[in-house]
Amino acid sequence: PRRIVLDCDPGHDDAIAMLLAHGSPAVELVAVTTVAGNQTLEKVTRNALAVAELAGIDVPVAAGCDRPLVRPRIVAPDIHGDSGMDGPVLPAPRRAVDDRHAVDLIIETVLAAEPGEITLVPTGPLTNVAMAARKEPRIVPRVREVVLMGGGYHVGNRTPVAEFNVLADPEAAHVVLTEAWPVTMVGLDLTHQAVATADVRDGIAALGTAPARFVGELLDFYGTTYRTAQGFPSPPVHDPCAVAYVVDPSVMTTRRAPLDVELHGGLTTGMTVADLRGDEPGPEECRTQVAVTLDHGRFWDLVLDALRRVGDP
Ligand code: BDR
Ligand code: CA
Repeated sequence: PRRIVLDCDPGHDDAIAMLLAHGSPAVELVAVTTVAGNQTLEKVTRNALAVAELAGIDVPVAAGCDRPLVRPRIVAPDIHGDSGMDGPVLPAPRRAVDDRHAVDLIIETVLAAEPGEITLVPTGPLTNVAMAARKEPRIVPRVREVVLMGGGYHVGNRTPVAEFNVLADPEAAHVVLTEAWPVTMVGLDLTHQAVATADVRDGIAALGTAPARFVGELLDFYGTTYRTAQGFPSPPVHDPCAVAYVVDPSVMTTRRAPLDVELHGGLTTGMTVADLRGDEPGPEECRTQVAVTLDHGRFWDLVLDALRRVGDP
């Protein structure tokens, strides 16, 4: 299996990303690290521990950076509520957070593994991953790939052109996108196709397990905020798309393109800019790619299959 570190800010869709990673035989989740994003570091770490408890995820959960590299912290209670994961009643976590800082756990994990073994999957602001690359540059050539949820080459959500994870820490996103590792940007272009329709929600409810009920309750709250705050009839479930790409890359199409982030714009700060002019560059010329089209049915089959395997721990 592909070994991944999930760096997240749960977050309704981050929680589903954890469950997809845990329940997918093609992936081995080796650690969960948390970063301030959808809510404060304290809240998202508590949420990550609660999801681990509920699903029997027995890997280190380490807390990382409590704010962006440069800018003031922004959070997203309009989508994720005051707790960062409003809706379900969360189990009291019995396991404790790991002693190590998330940045150190990422570095230790990558250095302890074989070169090319670890894939980093960030689904929150990119602060921890950027810090890890700067603190220990030897990790960069050892990481197999960074598959991140964030950005978008044609649309934003927090602003007309900026997506939340990138807008929250654009300097960190710049570091991650321009380091010498392969990057797949699973942005809003792709994740807005991953909508949890009524059929999808019925399929999840039919599983009848506690983790599936938990996902149903997450989607009830998240569906309501996405409808009222963003006008989506069914909510786009962003973060599991990045995990799904690692589980089975054929679930989406991608296109190689040079990528960077606007750091100085008046209207466009936090916008990810993909150069899509001309022919697609070759892999030697270009290490970055963007996700384009999702197979909606197969994506949700992966999530349902993972939930089935998670069962009722
Ligand atoms: C991203 O922002 C967060 O609200 C979600 O968890 C996702 O990672 C979508 O823009
Ligand atoms: Ca997230």
